Amino acid sequence: RIPLLIDTDPGVDDALAILMALASEQHEVLGLCIAAGNVGLEHTCRNALCLLDVAQREVPVFAGCDRPLLHPAADAAFVHGNDGFGDVSLPTPARSVEAEHAALAILRFSHEHAGRLHLVTLGPLTNLALALRLDPSLPSRIDRLTVMGGAVTGRGNTSLPAEFNIGFDPEAAHIVMSGFGHFDLIDWEATLAHPISFEAIDAYLGRPGELPRFYQAISAKTRRWIAGCASAWHAADGLAMAVALEPDGCLEVESCWVGVETEGRQYRGATLVDWQRRGGQPANARILRRYDAQRFERLIRKALAIAD
Ligand code: BDR
Ligand code: CA
Repeated sequence: RIPLLIDTDPGVDDALAILMALASEQHEVLGLCIAAGNVGLEHTCRNALCLLDVAQREVPVFAGCDRPLLHPAADAAFVHGNDGFGDVSLPTPARSVEAEHAALAILRFSHEHAGRLHLVTLGPLTNLALALRLDPSLPSRIDRLTVMGGAVTGRGNTSLPAEFNIGFDPEAAHIVMSGFGHFDLIDWEATLAHPISFEAIDAYLGRPGELPRFYQAISAKTRRWIAGCASAWHAADGLAMAVALEPDGCLEVESCWVGVETEGRQYRGATLVDWQRRGGQPANARILRRYDAQRFERLIRKALAIAD
């Protein structure tokens, strides 16, 4: 099975993506590396542990960075709830986080699974940037890196041009994007291009079973928020996980050089894309443009243990 390490800030859509990975027979989820992002680190760690309890999986959880590398950043509690899981009362997790820091866990797994490790990031890139600064040879041991982040044509969701994961910690994103020669990028625009109808998501979450019931509870607040500003559900991290798990579902991708603007009052955190190959830098990213919608929904159903 393919060894998969997930760096995440759970988060309602992170939770779905993690369930998708746990449901894959072809992948072994080695651990969840946690950062602050959607909400503070104490919440994102607790949420990861709660999710694993509900899924009845003993995957280790590694606490990582509790803030961006340089500048303070605003969270996304208004989307995910103050605790990141919809502010419903959840039982205290049965287990605790490991003693090892997430950045060190990334490095250790990269040695233990050198040349085979698949890394998926669903949150700010702080932990991965730190790991890369500690050991710049890290990319040589990673088989694949899949990143949810960015707004490739400037349609941000946190500032005008910036997507949340990049806007939260642009310096970290810069370090990762300039340090890895190749990664798959699933950005906010791709997310918007792959909506899931409210009818579909409501039908899935209305099904019997512990996982649909749990996901319905933690996502209710987010669903109301999305319904206030969009006509369908968007699962950014779920789409990234679909690309990670079943890359042959990608129907259209574009290879380009991608970077991040780390300065500026309005443009800090903007994604830079050399669409026309004018900068002379080799392509480092494969940007997702179109993914098989039916396959995406099938992976979601499978994550929630809903029979086809
Ligand atoms: C990203 O931001 C977060 O709120 C989501 O979990 C996702 O990772 C989308 O911009
Ligand atoms: Ca996330």
